[in-house]
Amino acid sequence: MKPIYLDHQATTPVDPRVLEAMLPYFRDDFGNASSSTHVFGFRAEAAVEDARERIAAHLGAMPEEVAFTSGATESNNIAIQGVLGATPEPSNVVTVETEHPSVLEACAAQGVRGGRVVRLSVDAEGLISADQVANAIDESTRLVSVSAANSEIGTLQPLDEIARVCCEKGVVLHCDGAQAVGKVPLRVDETPLDLLSISAHKIYGPKGVGALYIRNRRPKIRLRSLFAGGGQEQGIRPGTLAVPLIVGLARALDLCIEEQQLETKRLLELRGLLHERLTAAFSDVITNGTLEARLPGNLNLSFPNTNGERLLLALPGLAVSSGSACSSSSGEPSHVLLAIGRDKKLARASLRFGLGRGTTREDVLRAAEQVVTAVREQRQG
Ligand SMILES: Cc1ncc(COP(=O)(O)O)c(C=O)c1O
Repeated sequence: MKPIYLDHQATTPVDPRVLEAMLPYFRDDFGNASSSTHVFGFRAEAAVEDARERIAAHLGAMPEEVAFTSGATESNNIAIQGVLGATPEPSNVVTVETEHPSVLEACAAQGVRGGRVVRLSVDAEGLISADQVANAIDESTRLVSVSAANSEIGTLQPLDEIARVCCEKGVVLHCDGAQAVGKVPLRVDETPLDLLSISAHKIYGPKGVGALYIRNRRPKIRLRSLFAGGGQEQGIRPGTLAVPLIVGLARALDLCIEEQQLETKRLLELRGLLHERLTAAFSDVITNGTLEARLPGNLNLSFPNTNGERLLLALPGLAVSSGSACSSSSGEPSHVLLAIGRDKKLARASLRFGLGRGTTREDVLRAAEQVVTAVREQRQG
């Protein structure tokens, strides 16, 4: 029987409509978007600029404010290291302890230069408050970096209020939108972010492409470029543009935005069903993160007196991740689950379910049944 894929926060399959849009740019229109002497180059450039316009429109930005990158890891590094490196003297940065490693480590690099890195702690649901941000900002703070949605427990941070604080204090606000953009409403003309990272493979687009929104007006955000090269993307991310992937990113975002309302409703119902089945089977299940301000397709549960890694071995037909999967090479429990107050044992007894576009009611019922059996067997064994 086909395995059930419930790991859509790790990555998503490319939607066939996205693949269809990309194919001509691998075959016939394969030109270099910087080739300005022939029609192959003109067509590639036109496709990139059309993608840029559509992505900008979805984000509430101007096309010249969108730079293409290889994904959210690169966007986060360009944004954070670019802002913090734009001045010769080190400055302070405020972030959150549950951020993705690409954010935490890019901020840590500023610590090496002598700046102060403040990692805000989260509450039991994974949330920070705008007051915490306000209190952490001092006269040397140049940047605040907060993700819109957490990849493990799906928590949506109160970005509007955080943006208001950053505007008042004149501090640059970067947002890692990798898990949120396309799945929940997020536009820079409604939430005044200065920098926003996005990634295609989280939204049914191809791996290896993303974008960074960089505010161009009131105020213009200045970045130190991390790369030497041919000057593409205003020198911020030089290198030959990945035309088919960029076309795929734009099509993927078009579809997510078009279908967002219906898909949210569908995913909330399916997630509710999964939650109901598992909590009905085990009264001691702990839900990690809030069920209110949360990505619609995400559910993260701890099953006391089990081990998530061993549960995964007992669930070969189910693709989910465990509370230590994020740092599985080190075997360490998830820093996010520890941050919301789970101890190491409980963090290791957790499973993350990521429901997505292909997930059906049948998948959810089968997955719940398999998890119930695996948890029972492990507890008895
Ligand atoms: C919140 C968040 N930020 C950044 C990334 C990195 O994205 P990419 O794989 O596009 O580099 C991920 C992916 O795991 C993520 O979930």
